[in-house]
Amino acid sequence: MTVRCPIEIIGAGASVPARVVTNDDFARRLDTSDEWIVQRTGIRERRFAATGESTLGFAAGACKAALQTARVEPAEIDLLISATITPDHTLPSLACELQAALGLRCVPAFDLVAACSGFVYGLITAGQFIQTGMARTVLVVGAECMTRTVDMEDRSTCVLFGDGSAAAVVRRSAHPERGVVAARWGADGTRADLIWIPAGGSAEPASIRTINERLHFMRMKGREVYKVAVTLMQDIVRDTCADAGIAPSDLELLIPHQSNLRIIESACSKLGIPSERVMVNIDRYGNTSAASVPLALVEARGAGRLTPGSLIMLVAFGAGFTWASVVMRV
Ligand code: ACO
Repeated sequence: MTVRCPIEIIGAGASVPARVVTNDDFARRLDTSDEWIVQRTGIRERRFAATGESTLGFAAGACKAALQTARVEPAEIDLLISATITPDHTLPSLACELQAALGLRCVPAFDLVAACSGFVYGLITAGQFIQTGMARTVLVVGAECMTRTVDMEDRSTCVLFGDGSAAAVVRRSAHPERGVVAARWGADGTRADLIWIPAGGSAEPASIRTINERLHFMRMKGREVYKVAVTLMQDIVRDTCADAGIAPSDLELLIPHQSNLRIIESACSKLGIPSERVMVNIDRYGNTSAASVPLALVEARGAGRLTPGSLIMLVAFGAGFTWASVVMRV
């Protein structure tokens, strides 16, 4: 829908593991190849957390970097939203652990579970609290250790994912013409079986059987997800642009969820968005789920691709099924 939400990302930062894993690293132990992975996905390498590293460390690193670039003190944050499907613990939330790690005041802090759409869901949520006056400065972070939930014996999923985090400090904009001009978000739970983790929740708690049957790892119906994602991405980009009163080709930069280069290219060519206006970094990070869009956002900022006043779109889709998009004037 068309919304006027004058928010601004005043700072953003990222933190990724140091360890780089190439396609050839997989090819040495699985029946796969660099050629297959690059051709089907566009991924060349991804980052893997080392033993002892976890989502919290990357989230904290990203948030500190975002606060620093925003020149905002931790005490100024009055809401923390962390988007993740791989928190350090089921209980308490990643957000509460992060709040303590960052030394924030006792402000509300919660996890948002929307898989790859999580950061954009978080941004839309932050905008609502800022709009109502319940929050002035919001920290939104997407953080994942996908390697802890992916089956490293399953070649159809393990080559796709990576670890890392990126965060944004969001505040009401001093420039009323800036901010979100249109947003769409949604979910379709009838498609839950496309990407899911069968065990480890209350329906089937961890047991020796679930471990032996590898039921605590993520399962994905890749071909079906692909088909849904290509159509969905086109539809939400087109519809959100229509809400904003623009054509997709008017976007100065599209920052899509980095799940598969073929999905991005296919949707963009049908939408008439030239590749030089699309932010892509999947070749170096793979799919980092909720960290994917903000990681691309941080890179785009660093590369000077977010010119003040330009019209950009963030768009994501993922397990659930979930999706979310915003058109923003930055
Ligand atoms: N290396 C070599 N061969 C492989 C590999 C691999 N890593 N993985 C699968 N194959 C094989 C399959 O076994 C199959 O072999 P078969 O024909 O003998 O049965 C063949 O390649 C083709 O398999 P497909 O699944 O049809 O391959 P496809 O072209 O669809 O590519 C892929 C698979 C890359 C997973 C694709 O379907 C995809 O990207 N899907 C979307 C994923 C996505 O976007 N997820 C986003 C959400 S993730 C989240 O929310 C957490």
